[in-house]
Amino acid sequence: MHRFINGIKVFLQGDSAAQPIIFIHGFPFEHTLWDDVIEQLKDDYYCISYDLRGFGSSEVGHGQYTMESYVDDLETLISRLGLEQVILCGFSMGGYIALRANERLQNLKALILANTSTSSDNDEAKLKRAKAIQGIEKEGVEPFLESFFTAAFTQSYLKEHQDRIALLKEKILTFDPIGVKGGLLAMISRTDTTQSLEKTPTTLLIGASDDAIIAPKIMKEIASKMKNSHYVELQDSGHVSMLEKPKEFVKALKSFLIKN
Ligand code: MLT
Repeated sequence: MHRFINGIKVFLQGDSAAQPIIFIHGFPFEHTLWDDVIEQLKDDYYCISYDLRGFGSSEVGHGQYTMESYVDDLETLISRLGLEQVILCGFSMGGYIALRANERLQNLKALILANTSTSSDNDEAKLKRAKAIQGIEKEGVEPFLESFFTAAFTQSYLKEHQDRIALLKEKILTFDPIGVKGGLLAMISRTDTTQSLEKTPTTLLIGASDDAIIAPKIMKEIASKMKNSHYVELQDSGHVSMLEKPKEFVKALKSFLIKN
């Protein structure tokens, strides 16, 4: 079942009386990133995924996004669905959103943070993203995507899953470049959420041994700053760990969720 809420396409699976989990995808993907994970959780949890504004089937609007505007959308979604004691599961940019939401929203029950970071961009990262925006403006999303995928997946995954990778690229290339550039703008302008780690609810952190975008030691360090956290490192996986290691990813989620 799906709904449109304030221009955001939302996908609802499972029993609405069960514990709600909201899955927030990373950049520049859309909700289907979570399909395999949700398939294995929907019998026991109310699984909600959505396309961030500017991605997938959600409206693009003006494209001038910030983490604040992404959290505004998330807040609207939570309130319009009447959800309480929500668990947020955010991957990479989805994790940046979950971490900022944790600072702004009340009553989150737990966080699941995969391949993400609490730091804001340093100058080098800001300039790299500014160059990417310029590149997308001049040449479209495709050349950017080629280099992004090289960093986001391990060489072996790219080689062994060529069909899936081709489908993912094909899907992303249908997105409005305004939305993709908007995602980069939101990441450039995000704040550092490290200070609020102490007031984070119980949290599962998932890192990946071969993540070339967010090194596992960053995730480990975040875990060490939290009072109630559990860190799992997936071996032989690149950045997009729920695709590269779906079984291990779901196993980590299930064993965390059963205790929380
Ligand atoms: C993501 O996967 O969401 C992005 O690569 C995160 C980032 O570039 O910082």
